[in-house]
Amino acid sequence: MSRFSARTGFSRTWNPLAQALAERRARGLPLLDLTETNPTRVGLPTPEPALLASPEALGYAPEPQGLLSAREAVAAHLARRGARVSPEHLVLSASTSESYSWLFKLLCEPGDNVLIPAPSYPLFEYLTRLEGVEARPYRLPRGHGFCLDVEEVAAARDERTRAVLVVNPGNPTGHYLHEGELEALGRLCAQEGLALISDEVFSDFAWDEEAGRVPTVAGRELPMLTFSLSGLSKVAGLPGLKLGWTHVGGPDTLREEALARLELVADTYLPVNTPVQLALPGLLAHAPRFQEALLARVKENRRRLLQARSREALWDVLPAHGGWSTVLRIPLALGEEPTCLALLDEGVAVQPGYFYDFPSAAFLVLSLLPPPDVFAAALAPLARVLDRSG
Ligand SMILES: Cc1ncc(COP(=O)(O)O)c(C=O)c1O
Repeated sequence: MSRFSARTGFSRTWNPLAQALAERRARGLPLLDLTETNPTRVGLPTPEPALLASPEALGYAPEPQGLLSAREAVAAHLARRGARVSPEHLVLSASTSESYSWLFKLLCEPGDNVLIPAPSYPLFEYLTRLEGVEARPYRLPRGHGFCLDVEEVAAARDERTRAVLVVNPGNPTGHYLHEGELEALGRLCAQEGLALISDEVFSDFAWDEEAGRVPTVAGRELPMLTFSLSGLSKVAGLPGLKLGWTHVGGPDTLREEALARLELVADTYLPVNTPVQLALPGLLAHAPRFQEALLARVKENRRRLLQARSREALWDVLPAHGGWSTVLRIPLALGEEPTCLALLDEGVAVQPGYFYDFPSAAFLVLSLLPPPDVFAAALAPLARVLDRSG
């Protein structure tokens, strides 16, 4: 028997819900899938495939940070969102996930830790562990509507903490970072020598306007090293094209050192594939069309969900401000998994809150991406199961 690293020894046992879902699919039974978050499968606009067929697509330019033309396109995209950044401070990678792995290599010794929000996107546990880094959760308090509380961040820190990770807006909680929170984070990070990693993949998907919202930390004068992450996966709904970017900010000397080291890391892996880099200006020019259609979809599905809830219902749709998902609070007595299984029996797939490390077993997560007819058809069984059991 060969020996393998402990850090790749993840549990591969399927939970009862994943098992039930696979069985339902294998039996060919109908399914209204409110766990679908793949933007290429829900009938949203896609760009011209010809964009990828540039005559230079088979060429190769060994520029570790990515082609200047591609980085200029990202800088122009950020400028349209009010962030003035230099292409020199951008590093392209094959995805946000790859950007994370480079940042953990850059910032952490094996055994160091980074602070991650809870509840949040479950992949952080994997991305950190694969780099030999510990993910230490800090709570986004329910009482604050899952907004960031810097006291919780400070309480989670120890002497091996190297960075604080924020997801802005939260996935699946949908809350944006605000000026006061960023200021407090800046003080903590500067005082303790921590970097800020800001995951902004959903930042373009705001459902409303809010005073004091921080859509991105890119281009801001901040007292600590900052990394602002996004990519085509969400911005243009093209996860299969594999292109992400990181903006590096903060005090000049720290930023220059971080960029020099990141260049070396990037060079070790060779740059992002040429066809997507050449197509990037066109793909980002298409992004507003995709985003507009997605936002209309998400808002309409959420409106219908709110409408489907009777006034006396014991379940709630949690307030939020952006993203692709929505969170329901259900009576604790129901249990997340039994509710998900009962819904699956009715042909509706949703996710339990524990996938995202919610604080108690009383939350469900629904994707707002499904086509309106699919989403609408799921609402009657959803209300029936939640009302019946409440
Ligand atoms: C918060 C968050 N960050 C990062 C990612 C991964 O993005 P990428 O496809 O660029 O690796 C996801 C994917 O769902 C996500 O939800």
